[in-house]
Amino acid sequence: MASESKTETATDSSSSNGRIGEVVLDVKDLKTYFVTRWGVVKAVDGVSFNLRKGETLGIVGESGSGKSVTSLSVMRLVPSPPGHIVGGEVYLQGENILDLSEKDMESVRGSRVAMVLQDPMTALNPVFDIEDQVGEAMKIHEGLKGDGLKATVIDMLRKVRIPAPDIRMKDFPHQLSGGMRQRVVGAIGISCSPAVLIADEPTTSLDATIQAQYLRLLRELQEDTGVGIIFITHDFGIVAKMCDRVAVMYAGKIVEQGDVRTIFNNPIHPYTEALIKSVPKMEENVERLYAIPGNPPSVTNRPSGCNFQPQCDGSNPDCVTQEPILVEEGPEHWVAYCAPCKDTHGCKWFPRDI
Ligand SMILES: Nc1ncnc2c1ncn2[C@@H]1O[C@H](COP(=O)(O)OP(=O)(O)OP(=O)(O)O)[C@@H](O)[C@H]1O
Ligand SMILES: [Mg+2]
Repeated sequence: MASESKTETATDSSSSNGRIGEVVLDVKDLKTYFVTRWGVVKAVDGVSFNLRKGETLGIVGESGSGKSVTSLSVMRLVPSPPGHIVGGEVYLQGENILDLSEKDMESVRGSRVAMVLQDPMTALNPVFDIEDQVGEAMKIHEGLKGDGLKATVIDMLRKVRIPAPDIRMKDFPHQLSGGMRQRVVGAIGISCSPAVLIADEPTTSLDATIQAQYLRLLRELQEDTGVGIIFITHDFGIVAKMCDRVAVMYAGKIVEQGDVRTIFNNPIHPYTEALIKSVPKMEENVERLYAIPGNPPSVTNRPSGCNFQPQCDGSNPDCVTQEPILVEEGPEHWVAYCAPCKDTHGCKWFPRDI
């Protein structure tokens, strides 16, 4: 998506929600590519968004659209090689962290920006007990030790509702239930009161009850600490419950971004409409669930111009030569239009029978 001057405005405007404060993370035109033997994978290809104190931004999109690589890029944890951040800026509390040395970045990770991963077993080290793992970041970043550290670990575990935390902190990860492990990972994430917490599908492995408890917990932690949360998910139900704003990703780019109500009630991009329509609803008596027609373009062989060409009904020479641009359709509501569709605001990208 071509970045144009309006992108700047999208990241600078303020919210009417009193709970939400200043911008803590400002990502501008981020590009992360993987150089593979099959070609260059443009996993993140010009992504811009921001996040404010106390706000939750949802990032949604199909598998492979670049959600996780976006968050790994913000953490500067993209595996390299083959991955490289090839462009853009990531301002964390006003500082471009892409300019920091790896050593300086180590002191940023965990303390100012932290991440909660989908699979708690991957995030937790099986050979250390919970006390060691929850305490590690506070030991490194805040210099806590001894009884002070122990008391803070117990307090963190209590906050995330681990029963008998003074006893359970001696457990190893395999001795906890899945829900408890996920809550421990949550405790590690917020242990140093980061300004930004990135949660990459943190509830996928949880059952519905534990999922609801975990989401409530994240909300409470946000109210207590004012942490800005980036919530990556496939689940529009969670977006509706958790998020203030949503960014919809497709093939490494954001195609629509806006306030959660606007995105649900008035999506403009046909891809957003299609994603919302593809969520199964209990009350609907349909024979077949809706599926988005066609496939996204190959990751190593994206078309020039508009990425939607493989799934698009329209055909126009401009689709091949001109990249979509972001247009502000309403307050903080940004939509990517390809050249032929921009003037009419009538997209031909997808079949309109959705
Ligand atoms: N280490 C890697 N080497 C090569 N390509 C990679 C690597 N990691 C990610 N990619 C590619 O980058 C693209 C974006 O991947 P990413 O993991 O961000 O998708 P995602 O939107 O998080 O998907 P999901 O919903 O399945 O988690 C994909 O095409 C993926 O194959
Ligand atoms: Mg992912």
